[in-house]
Amino acid sequence: MTARPVIGVLLGGTSPEREVSLSSGTGVAEALEAEGWPVRLYDYGTAGEEKHGSVAARLEHALSEGELVDVELVFIVLHGGAGEDGRVQSFFELAGVPYTGTGVLGSSVSMNKWISKSLLRRAGVRVPEARLWSPGNPAPANIIEADWGAALGWPLVVKPVDQGSTVGFSLVESADHVPAALEKAAAYGGHVLVEAYIPGREVTVAVLEEQALPVVEIHPEHGVYDYECKYTAGKSTYTCPADLPQGVTRRLQEDALKAFDALYNRDFSRMDFRLAEDDTPFLLEGNTLPGFTATSLVPKAAAAVGISFNELCTRLAEAALGRKGAPI
Ligand SMILES: Nc1ncnc2c1ncn2[C@@H]1O[C@H](COP(=O)(O)OP(=O)(O)OP(=O)(O)O)[C@@H](O)[C@H]1O
Ligand SMILES: [Mg+2]
Repeated sequence: MTARPVIGVLLGGTSPEREVSLSSGTGVAEALEAEGWPVRLYDYGTAGEEKHGSVAARLEHALSEGELVDVELVFIVLHGGAGEDGRVQSFFELAGVPYTGTGVLGSSVSMNKWISKSLLRRAGVRVPEARLWSPGNPAPANIIEADWGAALGWPLVVKPVDQGSTVGFSLVESADHVPAALEKAAAYGGHVLVEAYIPGREVTVAVLEEQALPVVEIHPEHGVYDYECKYTAGKSTYTCPADLPQGVTRRLQEDALKAFDALYNRDFSRMDFRLAEDDTPFLLEGNTLPGFTATSLVPKAAAAVGISFNELCTRLAEAALGRKGAPI
């Protein structure tokens, strides 16, 4: 057997989801090693450093004389921030190094829940009604009275437009709690999405190489799938395949595939839905770099169709290798 090419696994990084990425990345590296790939781990930062402009310099150093010097492809297991929104992808694109997953455009449009909505609507995928608030402009109190409550109904969801892991999220019951919720979401530095709350079931659909995998239903202890329910063992339970009427499953999978195309996703991604009480699916967002520990949702869905975590990681690496030498 010829030796497998060396893979650089990118993990950690500088976003608020750094800790999750360290778990995902370690698991991916172990899986790849078990499949015979030589692996180099690379963590370019520590949390909160993203604004200091040093990421590109570190990546360049790693490729030219550091940890990544002999790699033939990069397996990106970063969550949130520059690692998920296309910036790190564009670095490897320009450096001519193949990388796993979605490219630059798909990464950036998927990361922004407001831009995603317009692409999704156009593709015929139902999304919750929403408004965008730009911090400081104009005064939030006026907007609340003029518009949000009447347009979207109570309670409202307030969340950063471009973060993951439910950070900065609030469920707001009345107008007087809106300013604090806006401030909490704005603390992540970007615009804020104010969204209609969709009561109902929490389901997700992974897409792998243009195929929708079985639907996973999540039963979070808190009703909302918040940070604690995502990452504390026992705070959520999962059903896969979800116990749903066939027609509903089919609709969710069709919507997931439409969204995959509409958001320019590649290789794999995960579409998060809320299923309203009448079983209408509302797509909350697409994740191009979803949680990727062996027990995360995408690996869980893959396991349900007989694809092991090791095989899943190998397939994604091979898909990236297949793009080696392709023009950018
Ligand atoms: N409009 C909504 N109606 C009902 N629940 C919502 C809504 N928006 C968000 N939620 C709840 O908050 C969770 C996180 O929301 P969302 O998926 O939009 O954000 P995220 O932080 O990007 O998530 P991820 O960790 O999947 O990247 C959802 O899984 C759901 O439980
Ligand atoms: Mg989500």
